[in-house]
Amino acid sequence: MKDLSMDVDALDAEAERILRMNDRGGYSVPTAGLYPYQWNWDSAFAAYGYAMFDLDRGWRELEVLMAGQWPDGMVPHIQFHKVDPSYFPGPDIWGGVGPVPSSGISQPAIAATMARLVYELDPGAGAERMRALYPKFIAWHRWFMEWRLDRDAVCLTHPWEAGRDNAPDWDGPLARIDPSGIAPYERRDTGHVDPSMRPKKADYDRYLWLVKQGHDCGWDQAHLRDVNPFRMADPTMHFTLLRGHRDLMWLGAELGLDTGPLPDWIAQLEAGAETLWNAQLGAYDCRDAVTGDWADAVSNAAFLCWYARVDPKTTAAVYARVQSKVQFGVASHDPDSPAFEPKRYWRGPTWAMMNMLIAMGLDEAGRPEGAALRASTVRLIAGNGFAEYFDPLTGAPAGGKDFTWTAAIWLGWASPKARRGRWAA
Ligand code: GLC
Repeated sequence: MKDLSMDVDALDAEAERILRMNDRGGYSVPTAGLYPYQWNWDSAFAAYGYAMFDLDRGWRELEVLMAGQWPDGMVPHIQFHKVDPSYFPGPDIWGGVGPVPSSGISQPAIAATMARLVYELDPGAGAERMRALYPKFIAWHRWFMEWRLDRDAVCLTHPWEAGRDNAPDWDGPLARIDPSGIAPYERRDTGHVDPSMRPKKADYDRYLWLVKQGHDCGWDQAHLRDVNPFRMADPTMHFTLLRGHRDLMWLGAELGLDTGPLPDWIAQLEAGAETLWNAQLGAYDCRDAVTGDWADAVSNAAFLCWYARVDPKTTAAVYARVQSKVQFGVASHDPDSPAFEPKRYWRGPTWAMMNMLIAMGLDEAGRPEGAALRASTVRLIAGNGFAEYFDPLTGAPAGGKDFTWTAAIWLGWASPKARRGRWAA
């Protein structure tokens, strides 16, 4: 293991350097080369990171993100502000129909929660900007409530929508898709990063088949709901949206704004969480909305139940078991599962920003595991740099380098000098 003695100032400076380097003028890219556009939840974390040294820049990130909102309320998972041939699939393949060339799917709704954290850093400076963003967040959350519920649990319609691209949770439903007929294509991701750390070709074929399906029906949600064979009710989508609703409630009360449907939406999603509880697994799980089958997978998203403030039931015992198997952070997939691969993206690696969300919930619930998770994420980053994700067994960095969200959560949460939000213990 590397020397973990820490020079906090040097790490803080490096994180700031990465955020400035990945700034494209009002929006950030996750990392140059591999991800040269604006991604939705990456941007929300970035806003919090920027706000640590430049509050105005933090708000700007959220404003640019929300300016890409579609007329139906959806906020796309990628906005292609400036076309870059080093990424595939680009705007022509997606055929998004919003004000900015974009993808046609969304991503976990953490932006309202990050906006609250940014607001809390300086309510006086943020009030007007938050007021302007508020109705946009409501419209986005309404889109999820209108189009993405199954038994009151929030669904994704493409693996990229959950932000957990190749998680074993999707193996079953993806296997049912026959991707023959998609046009030949050339991946660009494996030119940037070791292919053993990326999704496999069989997955990619299906990702593209699903994109084509959305593109062919003009991303009409009513139509897609009828024809899309991939529809998974998922703890990532569900818990982040529920938490986002709660933070909008708080902001609405704080700013004297009309909270409209939020109390009903919160009650609805609290009830819907029950339909994600897999009693046999002892954890919240993904449920296939088409077949009713469980994924039977303990992912790191299961541990967002505290963040969403739903009843954790027996989750703490499962958390203790999976944590006893790894050295760093929370593994994205159960280390005891045969599908666990410690370096392959969402099939095992630990992700610093997921660790932050999980720890926020644990801290708020008054549980000691939150501080322990932060300490292990600190060791992870201090010893291995600002990688996209890490091997949870060894801490080895994986995926892209100089990653925006890893730098952002360092500055906003992990760094011993971070001005963490009010939730922090
Ligand atoms: C990958 C990740 C996703 C992230 C994106 C940009 O697709 O799985 O969560 O938003 O890269 O970093």
